[in-house]
Amino acid sequence: MRRKIKPAVLALLFLFIAIQFYQPARNSNKEQGGTMDIARSYNIPADVKKILHISCYDCHSSNTNHVWYDYIQPVRMMMESHIKRARKDLDFSEWGTYSNRKKERLLTSIKKQIETKEMPPPSYTLMHKNARLNKMQAKVLIDWVGSHE
Ligand code: HEC
Repeated sequence: MRRKIKPAVLALLFLFIAIQFYQPARNSNKEQGGTMDIARSYNIPADVKKILHISCYDCHSSNTNHVWYDYIQPVRMMMESHIKRARKDLDFSEWGTYSNRKKERLLTSIKKQIETKEMPPPSYTLMHKNARLNKMQAKVLIDWVGSHE
């Protein structure tokens, strides 16, 4: 028995293919670790820097390390929206431009976001498993932030 493909399914398939053509400019500034990067404000230990780069910089910096499935829509649109909102609140590449008051507020906020497991967002770590923070990594970050608050 031959099954007919329903028009709604065809329409969805067409839509899925059509949105693949929407690929906004990549959030990648070749000059990673620019002059305003947080790494220029403090002497950040290598292990802390590595965790920040892997777990936070994809959204909170001018450099996103995209994986291949980030380019498949609608994942790309979700990432774009995350990056836009994340950088508005906290951009590690722009840290040097922040006032002392803002830096202090953000350091406290970073600690809280990690402690409550709100960052990195679970919706993101679901597909980007390497960005997940294990207990040790969370502690390393929290301890480092605590020593600069
Ligand atoms: C998938 C993207 C993504 C990743 C990865 C990510 N964040 Fe976020 N972050 C956001 C978004 C989006 C917001 C804005 C608030 C919201 O919409 O939830 C935010 C908000 C924050 C805030 C609140 C800033 C404020 O104004 O108080 C802090 C702090 C923060 N993130 C820290 C981190 C840290 C630390 C990491 C890494 C351990 C991280 N984030 C990883 C997307 C991300």
